[in-house]
Amino acid sequence: MKFSELVEKRYSVRSYTEEAVDDSQLNEILECARLAPSAVNLQPWKFIVVRSEEGRKKVCSTYKRDWIQTAPMFIICCVCHDEAWVRKYDQKEHGNIDIAIAAEHICLAATEQGLGTCWVCNFDAVKCSELFNLPSNIEPAVIIPLGHPADEAKPKTRKAMNEIVEYVDDVKEDKKCGQVYHCNDCGADIYKHMVFCDKCGKKLDHFDFED
Ligand SMILES: Cc1cc2nc3c(=O)[nH]c(=O)nc-3n(C[C@H](O)[C@H](O)[C@H](O)COP(=O)(O)O)c2cc1C
Repeated sequence: MKFSELVEKRYSVRSYTEEAVDDSQLNEILECARLAPSAVNLQPWKFIVVRSEEGRKKVCSTYKRDWIQTAPMFIICCVCHDEAWVRKYDQKEHGNIDIAIAAEHICLAATEQGLGTCWVCNFDAVKCSELFNLPSNIEPAVIIPLGHPADEAKPKTRKAMNEIVEYVDDVKEDKKCGQVYHCNDCGADIYKHMVFCDKCGKKLDHFDFED
């Protein structure tokens, strides 16, 4: 599967079948978390795998949504704040960034295996720490339910490319060459770097350009 297809395929699964996750699948998913990049390669994380009935009940008690109870297992992604890199210029601690990358590796690896996940951050983290006896330097940051999806993906709602991307330098160069092209749909000026029209949001095909 192409990476872009994998990204498209992943969605927040909020209903799971009772089928358990194979150990081999789980190990491959955890290996993808282990190989995630982190600032200065400090790997300031712990992944708590919860599969027992007792453990699952504990997790569910920290997140008040019925759907979470359908998940056959959870991975609690924790940040070890005392191990994370701190940027000297402004003392920004990067543990939350590191754990986010690892958590998404888990979600994408699971998707690749036909499994489902959902990022869950809106849980009672203090209660979770108490229930799993976590030391004070380890913060449970994301709970990832993992299992076989029992629901279907909905169409993705995302901001348009032109709302989130800004090119600061290459537009001027295109103008310098006098290469102004027009969107086939709305006629707005488009430049070679553009994948989507800034004005109407239409995806631009290569044939929008003459050369
Ligand atoms: C940092 C973060 C926290 C999230 N927390 C929750 C949560 O507590 N509960 C939940 O149901 N979904 C949660 N989500 C999932 C988002 O709602 C979801 O990713 C978003 O709506 C886009 O939908 P999609 O994942 O299906 O593409 C979270 C996602 C992220 C990235």
